[in-house]
Parts: sequence; structure tokens; C-alpha cells
Amino acid sequence: MPYLSPALNVMVTAARKVGRGLIRDFGEIENLQVSMKGPADFVSTADKRTETKLIEELTKARPGYCFLTEETGVIDGPDKSHRFIIDPIDGTTNFLHGIPHFAISVGLERDGQIVSGVVYNPVTDEMYVAEKGHGAYLNDKRLRVAARRKLNETILATGIPFLGRPGHELFATELAAVMGATAGVRRFGAASLDLAYVAAGRYDGYWERGLNAWDVAAGILLVREAGGVVTDLNGGSDPLNSGQILTANEYLHPLYLKLLKDAGRAAKG
Ligand code: IPD
Ligand code: CA
Ligand code: CA
Repeated sequence: MPYLSPALNVMVTAARKVGRGLIRDFGEIENLQVSMKGPADFVSTADKRTETKLIEELTKARPGYCFLTEETGVIDGPDKSHRFIIDPIDGTTNFLHGIPHFAISVGLERDGQIVSGVVYNPVTDEMYVAEKGHGAYLNDKRLRVAARRKLNETILATGIPFLGRPGHELFATELAAVMGATAGVRRFGAASLDLAYVAAGRYDGYWERGLNAWDVAAGILLVREAGGVVTDLNGGSDPLNSGQILTANEYLHPLYLKLLKDAGRAAKG
């Protein structure tokens, strides 16, 4: 059984509660897909409603804590040492298209360190939790990152920049390098779940640029508590605030880092 600190317990309860509403909303998407107007407005309403409910639930249990959230931004509270970092729907594009791969992500920071994390996919009912120093779990199962060491046997997740996002050329160069050295690349569309899947040993690694703290706060702790290494793409130790991430086990991490760095250098010419 996972160790749930009182705060983590509050986060799990809140995620489950808002997850039920999200499932209902997701059920509506199918109907809306075929309507002329399309589901975009509906989804942004679902996003905001989920976030508002999460903030409400968490504030009830932990009044005074600060927040950093995708939809609202910064909410200051009197307790400056605690901050919830929330993405109400990570994988919005999937949600919008009726693809059941999205999650509620909640991290709790204490004095600048993530100490508890929850990533919950309400469709599959997969609840990923981690408490600093107490391991990472998927439902009741303790998680370990994959043990593979040979690059050519590994698969990685990534995020592909899209219309309106920078870095298309650099990504194409990195992808070519990774394609030529590994067993494959996946783009599932929810950063929090990409990290959760690394923690669960499903993916051997994951890299992405252009991320925000709410995409990765909970997931970073999941991977670290599952024994993985998480850095930015220069090997720096603050992926939460750097907007970019590379994660894998301790053997693969340096290999991936070199592969991606070499590709980046080649792209610059
Ligand atoms: C996005 C997802 C996606 C990642 C993007 C994020 P959103 O979050 O995590 O996988 O590639 O960079 O913005 O918009 O669905 O919450
Ligand atoms: Ca996100
Ligand atoms: Ca989101």
C-alpha cells in the first residue's frame, strides 16, 4: 500500500472527486464532436470548472496554501512555504478529440521542493502517487523505472512542438538522432502521464521542451521516487522551472543526454 501523508491523502481525494466530473464531461465530447460548433468551448469550460473544484477542495483541507495553476496562474496565500501546482486537464488536445489519455496533475511544494504528487487518469482509473522519501505507486503497486541499459532496446516518449510553438527544426534533428539509436519514440500527448509511465517502467525515457511547471510538478516526483533521474536537457537539476526535461534510469540518462546534445549541436551547424 502506498504511504499517504495527510496532504497526499487530501490531494488523492480531491483528484478522485473532480475525476468523476471529468468522466461525465468526456462522455459529452463524443456528442459534441459531430456538432457544427465542435467541443472546443465546452472543453475550456471543463478545464476551468475542474480547476475551480480542485482549488476549492484543496483550500477547504489546507487553507492558506498558495497555488500555481494553469488556468488561474498564481494564487497567493498566507502560508508561503506551501504551494499546490495544478494542471486540471493535462492532455487537453486528447480530451478534445475524444482520446482517453489525459490526467489531473497535482504537486505539492514545500519550501521549494516537491514533496507530494498525484497524477490521475480518471478514464483508466490509474492513480499515480508519490511522497518524497516514500516511493511512487500506481494504485497499490510500488513503481520502479525500467532497468534496460542498451540504448537500442529502449523506447522514449516525447512531446512534438505544433503550430504556434517554437523549436520545430531542433525537434526534427533530435528525433532523427533518437530514431536511429533506439527501439522507438511515442507521442501520447500528456506530459504528466509520460512521466508516470517512465516511473512505471513502461517508457525507458522521456524528453520534451516548452513545458510548464504544472505539466511536470507531480510527475518529476513520481520518477525520482521510482529511482529515475530527472534533469533539464543540459543535465541541470531544476527541470520544474526550466521548461524542459529529460528523464531515464541512471544508466540511460547520460546516453540520452549525449545523443540529444550532439543532435542539438549538429542542428546549430
Ligand atoms: C500539454 C501536454 C502535452 C505537451 C504540451 C503540454 P495541456 O499540456 O502535456 O503532452 O506536449 O507541451 O502543454 O495543454 O494538455 O495541459
Ligand atoms: Ca499540461
Ligand atoms: Ca492543461
